[in-house]
Amino acid sequence: MKVRFVDLSAQHKPLEGELRAVFDRVMTKCSFVLGPEVEKFEEMFAAYCGVDHCVAVSNGTAALQLALQALGIGSGDEAISAVGARPVFVDIDPLSYTMDPAKVETAVTSKTKAIIPVHLYGQPADMDAINTVAEKHGIHVIEDSCQAHGARYKGKRAGSLGTAACFSFYPSKNLGACGEGGAVTTNDAVLAKKVRMLRDHGAVRKYEHDFPAFNLRLEGIQGGVLAAKLPRLDRWNENRRALAKRYSDLFADTKVIAPQQMSYAEHVYHLYVVIVEDREFLKKALFEQGIENGLHYPVPLHLQRAYSYLGYKQGDLPVSEHVAANHVSLPMYAELPVEHVDYVAKTVREIVECHPVLGPGERT
Ligand SMILES: Cc1ncc(COP(=O)(O)O)c(C=O)c1O
Repeated sequence: MKVRFVDLSAQHKPLEGELRAVFDRVMTKCSFVLGPEVEKFEEMFAAYCGVDHCVAVSNGTAALQLALQALGIGSGDEAISAVGARPVFVDIDPLSYTMDPAKVETAVTSKTKAIIPVHLYGQPADMDAINTVAEKHGIHVIEDSCQAHGARYKGKRAGSLGTAACFSFYPSKNLGACGEGGAVTTNDAVLAKKVRMLRDHGAVRKYEHDFPAFNLRLEGIQGGVLAAKLPRLDRWNENRRALAKRYSDLFADTKVIAPQQMSYAEHVYHLYVVIVEDREFLKKALFEQGIENGLHYPVPLHLQRAYSYLGYKQGDLPVSEHVAANHVSLPMYAELPVEHVDYVAKTVREIVECHPVLGPGERT
């Protein structure tokens, strides 16, 4: 059996007619950049996330950049490098793999302007604890919701849990465009207006620019595609959750450490990531059995060459390093056939159990 890691055609084939109609509408109106399709999606996505404003932008990276710039964060601050600030990395919690709130507290300095928790793999970070630290120090919290469309924290949607939130609509995301896309969501009208201007050359209206800015606008077609897909997102996420549960049930009583859904979270399993003792052995054996698999992510940010100037070294963030070195991402997408999950889980179990050195054993 051949098992794909992600199969985008499984989602797009059944939607082909609807998506072609979007293309026709945009062609007819020639509303190629921003325009009514984007505006409609912005309204729909704000309502979906339970916030007052959504500003659609060209990708998730742009969303993060613009949210920070709209808050006036930049050079000399501690936040993120894309706006000229200095990033400070903190370790993750060993169960949720999201930012450890206790570590945030110790990392905050007078230069810290924003905390950016990533809702990694589709599970929200512990936002109450992080917001408490932020409030104490008077700093902003920007959710990186790029992997968590529709996820919930204590019943509230990702995207509504901080000062602002940033989404990516890269095609393979839980909600994906047919190309690049992103958005900033917020309840802050002033912030939303600033992001709206920053994405469009600082324009208040055509030919009137209040400050120098960028071109980071969403295309009309992507707005239409996202609006067509959004009503299906909850069903797709339910499928992902059911598939994840099936995997996890099949890994009970094995040495495979399945992802843990925290009591406060409704995880949407953008990725299904397990921890094993010899991941290179597992990866290779899975490929030999026709099962695609991936790594998210093998080199933690603090050890990336791009951030060598910050002076981090191996051992600084031990939990992140452990997960980076021992995880494997298994096939996961909303349309993944149940038989594939069963085959993958059975194969993983067999591979882990017949490891030449580790052999069968208790869950660690
Ligand atoms: C957690 C996270 N943050 C940010 C991004 C950046 O989004 P984009 O690729 O749309 O720029 C991604 C996309 O992969 C992501 O997964």
